[in-house]
Amino acid sequence: MRVVVTGGAGFIGQHVVAETLRRGHDVLVLDSLREDVHGQHGCPPSGARLHLGDVRQTYDLDAALPGADVVVHLAAKVGLGVDVSDLPDYASNNDLGTAELLAAMARHRLNRLVLASSMVVYGEGLGRCAEHGPVRGRPRSEYDLAQGQFEPECVRCGAQLSPSLVDEEAPSDPRNAYAASKLAQEHYATSWARETGGSAALLRYHNVYGPGMPQGTPYAGVASIFTSALRDGKAPRVFEDGGQRRDFVHVRDIAAATVTAAERHTGGARAFNVGTGVPRTVGEMAASLAHALHGPTPVVTGDYRLGDVRHITANSARILDELGWMAREDFDKGMAELAGLGQTVSAPAVAAR
Ligand code: UD1
Repeated sequence: MRVVVTGGAGFIGQHVVAETLRRGHDVLVLDSLREDVHGQHGCPPSGARLHLGDVRQTYDLDAALPGADVVVHLAAKVGLGVDVSDLPDYASNNDLGTAELLAAMARHRLNRLVLASSMVVYGEGLGRCAEHGPVRGRPRSEYDLAQGQFEPECVRCGAQLSPSLVDEEAPSDPRNAYAASKLAQEHYATSWARETGGSAALLRYHNVYGPGMPQGTPYAGVASIFTSALRDGKAPRVFEDGGQRRDFVHVRDIAAATVTAAERHTGGARAFNVGTGVPRTVGEMAASLAHALHGPTPVVTGDYRLGDVRHITANSARILDELGWMAREDFDKGMAELAGLGQTVSAPAVAAR
């Protein structure tokens, strides 16, 4: 199979490329190697060809796509960003980039797509109210957060909710620019699949961690931020009360899910949650990393970020049922690996242009 991986030089991309090659497929990476994202280290693994270019540029797409069987679209601006001045950059990279890619795929008669989406499309997802059963959490106001009221409340009675797992049929409710752009990508891909008869696996990744995580940028995930702090001998700074729940999934598991979807998903647009199914709190994760690095005990700061959702945990049964993928990496071993490893994945590739 010939696979084009957009964003193949990024954190997840490098692992997807390595896994695709490991399974004997041919890979071409289309990546712009943006310096604010990649610094000096944005290189795909050896064995893959690199087309240095931008998914928003027709000539780059027309150079990269011919002959492909499937496109894995990972190129995107991630994270919460800095502030609202980031909005156009999210819209440009994520919305426009996907629209240009899909139009080019139609031009080149490519009809199979795997899209990196995110759990953030659900917003707070569902919670359980003792009185009203499963309900959506009310968006958390700045006032609530400043008062230390971190748990989302029932929209009907204001009672605290216990978190529950969302499945792919839960309504979407994006709460920040990144989430809105991921949902837009899903909608573009779904519309493209309907109009062209193509297939699109919309992979809603949970919180990805592992070797090669971006460090020291506004787009670094929490596991990377904590690791950097611990390596400097500082305590991880845990926001809110540390009780936020996430599903931390190893990047090798994410890569396996992505390549499996590229190999197996056919027939229209379909969303899949991609997680371990085992929620953990950010406080637990900080403790696990501090233990692995023999570092100082994490500090719970009570700080907050307005765009953050409290809990993102979902049921990942569909991808097991339909594509036969499940997460295999052990959490504690994964954290120890993150603590102990350097940040590179493998050797640089030769650029095609
Ligand atoms: C992350 C990803 C996003 C992905 C999503 C999938 C990043 C930057 N974001 O979003 O791309 O789509 O998972 O679920 O990788 N926190 C602290 N201390 C810190 C920094 C953060 O306690 O120093 C807390 C935050 O308040 C938040 C949690 O850690 O509750 C996770 O934050 P973050 O790693 O930025 O990820 P998400 O917003 O979950």
